[in-house]
Amino acid sequence: MTGARTGATTGAVPLFDDDVQPPAQRSEIAPGAVHVPGWLTLPQQRELVAACRRWAAGPVPIRHTRLPRGGAMSVQTVCIGWHWQPYRYTRTGDDVNGARVADFPDWMVRLGRRALVDAYQAPDAGDGYTPDTALINFYDAAAKLGMHQDKDERSDAPVVSLSIGDSCVFRLGSAENRNRPWSDVELASGDLFVLGGPSRFAYHGVPRIHPGTGHPDTGLAHGRLNITMRVTGLTG
Ligand code: SIN
Ligand code: MN
Repeated sequence: MTGARTGATTGAVPLFDDDVQPPAQRSEIAPGAVHVPGWLTLPQQRELVAACRRWAAGPVPIRHTRLPRGGAMSVQTVCIGWHWQPYRYTRTGDDVNGARVADFPDWMVRLGRRALVDAYQAPDAGDGYTPDTALINFYDAAAKLGMHQDKDERSDAPVVSLSIGDSCVFRLGSAENRNRPWSDVELASGDLFVLGGPSRFAYHGVPRIHPGTGHPDTGLAHGRLNITMRVTGLTG
């Protein structure tokens, strides 16, 4: 992945291509849950930050998602492809402004496929993987995400997670409940994490952000950006 230089792109600069290079290291935290540190180069992170800034502006702008029982999430979220609100996906941001969300771009489908190839170290791991939504979360220094499962999708295809900016503690538990035992993994800028196979429905959360640990060259002056690509299993 690092050093890739040809192919289609997010914009003018050809950063996201189909050249796969073996990542420097990877660790399987649990069966199907793989961490690949430093998977994205700084220019790739910059491109993603720029794309996320555009999506954050609209057509359905970034917001603190309101919870059905009252209150709002501390994380701010913008969605592409399908809009997520607790606990369903729609094409329009019905809890925001009713507009249709931005399309899920082809370059991000290809990025998701390459993520699976690198995470699972199998040339065919991305075959047939067509994510159609991404939840883009922005964490300020105080934001957290409680232990939860990603289970509003009607598909068991893997979730591909990309992190940019401040590092965080990512907590991975079991698929049974939100309690211990769990593994705390430090996710830093550029890291890839995949939740698939037996870990696809594992509980996970983000209990802590480490402010000031990002790299200014990502274009993100502060905070943490996390992109999770998913397959909704929905049509229409
Ligand atoms: C999520 O669980 O949807 C986001 C995880 C993360 O921010 O790393
Ligand atoms: Mn999640």
